[in-house]
Amino acid sequence: MNPSLLIQIPFFPEQASNFAFEIDLFYLFLCALTAFFTVLIAAAAIYFLIRYRRRSQGEVPEQIEGHLKLEIAWTVIPFVISMFIFAWGAKLYYQMYTHPKDALEIFITGKQWMWRAQHPDGQREINELHVPLGRRVKLTMTSEDVIHAYYIPAFRTKTDVVPGRYTTSWFTPTKVGTYHLFCAEYCGTQHSGMIGKVTVMEYSDYQAWLRGVPREKSPAEAGQQLFTSLACSNCHVENNTGRGPSLQNLFGTDVKLANGATVKVDETYLRESILNPGAKVVAGYTNDMPTFQGLVTEEQVAMIIQYIKSIGPKQGAASTTAPSAASPAPAAQGVERPALPQAAKPAAPQGEQPKQD
Ligand code: CUA
Repeated sequence: MNPSLLIQIPFFPEQASNFAFEIDLFYLFLCALTAFFTVLIAAAAIYFLIRYRRRSQGEVPEQIEGHLKLEIAWTVIPFVISMFIFAWGAKLYYQMYTHPKDALEIFITGKQWMWRAQHPDGQREINELHVPLGRRVKLTMTSEDVIHAYYIPAFRTKTDVVPGRYTTSWFTPTKVGTYHLFCAEYCGTQHSGMIGKVTVMEYSDYQAWLRGVPREKSPAEAGQQLFTSLACSNCHVENNTGRGPSLQNLFGTDVKLANGATVKVDETYLRESILNPGAKVVAGYTNDMPTFQGLVTEEQVAMIIQYIKSIGPKQGAASTTAPSAASPAPAAQGVERPALPQAAKPAAPQGEQPKQD
């Protein structure tokens, strides 16, 4: 089917991401199905009303004891239709929530009432988002205060942005242009003003744009500075010789906890350990660390996490440095690559499915 056919429908936002066409198709299918059965049932009701009306005062209708074939039909047909809707919806959902590992990762913070974005090399923008055409883009998002939702109608993506948690969303922009960005979760008096622009640019234009934005430290560099200035580095020294566990080569691995459980070191675990260090203490250590709740913003927490990722195990072709002999064994065992994606990586073909996590 030709995707451009659907673009002509008035009131629909433009289709500017890899998901847009199929989501519109699904939506139109549901509308058509609803319209078909509405008309069918209404027409049948009107026809029966007339056809089987009482024709005389004393008329007694014929008794009907059921009709097996008819009953099977009206059970099986709706079952098949609803399972088809379920399967199609589940497939779309699975695609949208299975994040590609090779995506350009942009960090988004929601705050009453603005959207902040930070690119992998440190460029920041407010109430705007610049993304390259044809590249997979992953948004990692959190909120400084209440629940917001990052909604780009032209991409057909909408994801809640929740305080105390990282949520993610991904898409491949497929059309150059400028599109609306909305907050889609009521978040206070200026919720309706929490809007912005998403600009899709050719890859070369995106690179030029990145160069034009005053570059600050990359999140990982800023995180390293915080790591020193907040004195994290006093206890978390290399080779596990300090009061806290070493953070080298940690990200993406599994660690044993004091209570015997095992936890995977991901963004959520690191964030929790910064803000609530006693929640999951690593085996062999005591709960000595003070909380940093209130001392660091969500953006700073994210920077520290980026720093910890940057000193995590490196692996695979994406690594820009040759694997060092000191690399720990987990790097060879398919641990998720923690390094930030490099902006210069080749584009993935449009519409291709992401690798599964
Ligand atoms: Cu933020 Cu509504």
